Amino acid sequence: QPSGKGKSLTAPFQPVSRTWENDMVLPNGYNYSIIASYGDKINSKGEIFGDAADLTVYFPIDSLQGGNNSEEGLIWVNHEFPEPGNYMKMLGINEATFKKENLANYPELLKMEKEAVGGSVIHVKKEKDGWKLVLDDVYNRRVDGTTQIELTGPARGSKAVNGATSVVGSLGNCSGGRTLWNTALSCEENTEYGDDYGWPNFDDSHYGWVVEVDPFDPKKPVRKHTALGRFAHENTAMGLTNDGRVVVYMGDDKSDACFYKFISSKKFNPANREANFDILESGTLYVASMSQQKWIALDYATNSKLQEKYTDQAAVLTNAREAGILVGGTKLDRPEDVEIHPHDGTVFLALTNNTGHGNFHGQIVRFAPANGDHASESFTFEVFVAGGQQSGITCPDNLHFDSKGNLWVVEDYFATETNQYAAYKNCGVFMIPTDGKNYGEPFQFASGPKGCEVTGPWLTPDEKTLFLDVQHPETWNPYPGQTFGRSCLIAVQGGSFK
Ligand code: FEO
Ligand code: CA
Ligand code: CA
Ligand code: CA
Repeated sequence: QPSGKGKSLTAPFQPVSRTWENDMVLPNGYNYSIIASYGDKINSKGEIFGDAADLTVYFPIDSLQGGNNSEEGLIWVNHEFPEPGNYMKMLGINEATFKKENLANYPELLKMEKEAVGGSVIHVKKEKDGWKLVLDDVYNRRVDGTTQIELTGPARGSKAVNGATSVVGSLGNCSGGRTLWNTALSCEENTEYGDDYGWPNFDDSHYGWVVEVDPFDPKKPVRKHTALGRFAHENTAMGLTNDGRVVVYMGDDKSDACFYKFISSKKFNPANREANFDILESGTLYVASMSQQKWIALDYATNSKLQEKYTDQAAVLTNAREAGILVGGTKLDRPEDVEIHPHDGTVFLALTNNTGHGNFHGQIVRFAPANGDHASESFTFEVFVAGGQQSGITCPDNLHFDSKGNLWVVEDYFATETNQYAAYKNCGVFMIPTDGKNYGEPFQFASGPKGCEVTGPWLTPDEKTLFLDVQHPETWNPYPGQTFGRSCLIAVQGGSFK
């Protein structure tokens, strides 16, 4: 049975079944509260919670003092894309006759599109009746399609980015991660829509980077780190090499694109937060060769293939997708989320699918770095879970580990009652043990509302709350009477998650 219901159960919850029900369906005893949804005001300036919520990164409010407050914190939320069709309805613009070439004649629409994307910092608190957004002018703020953002690293000011040292806006913010020094990393993924929607002066070399935001300091400039390469970034998984440098694993979410890692030049300094702010500005970017089980450096200075094709390291990083394939990176089936196992340091990568060659259900691959060191240039790998009938999950996307080492997996596909995803119904959330007798067996924790992708799983340190986003639901929304679905950030509570 696809849901995992009835299996020898080690899960702390009674699994739910696949369903077409147009709601967030949870196991008995669990409930959710809606923290924020698209359009909600987050501060007195009138900034709004953006659209298409994806990543959620929870920072205990006392993070900078080394605390683990699980009832009050800041959340960084990504807003992946705008929904112009919905905004046209709100503005009374006739979508049938609208032409993107005329977007300049609709300044309100362009404004809504730009304020829908990027990310939000919000202050949240657990109350008796669920988690709430705290209206707060100290922390609550937006990064959006208009924010001035610094470029750092080798491509800053280079010809490859048309000389830019800073750029306007962040977009395509899919998933991301938390740094060891308590900042958020937000990944720019499918950024072409700026062009597709007719945004003026759109320079695509300014997008497709990893963005760093300090949720605790609104005055610190938002930065895009070119040393981590430019591609359709899904997320970041950060760890340490045995000698204390930072590793960042990253997938390029496109069919037949590659898996990357960045190793910093500098070492992480756990005693001094500020000392870590430039760590992501210099280091080496590598691409994975699965056939050689080896990481290949994207290093212009030492690689003749790169020297033949590109003018400098800035051009290599700005074209990291093509450069990765050129030096021997293996084309994969849409590398989505990657996470590092909290106990043994193995690396789990979701390959969501590749319909181009008939891989409709994807798989999750587990990598073991040689000698247990993320700095190693070689690795082994195995398929941890194959999507499809046997496991009962399909199209794995975001991943998140709990402290027991169970892998939480959300799915991303669009099912109708007649297509190849019919048996899977609405997208779900699963917990998969990574050891013990239920190794690799998915247990379904939740089923999302119709048409949505459930995204952004993130547990509080006490593991009593699971944050999730309901992204692009068809009709489901927290406000009665609305004619279209709204993306929301929700908090799930009521039982144990491990
Ligand atoms: Fe935006 Fe790769 O999902
Ligand atoms: Ca994703
Ligand atoms: Ca993740
Ligand atoms: Ca996806």
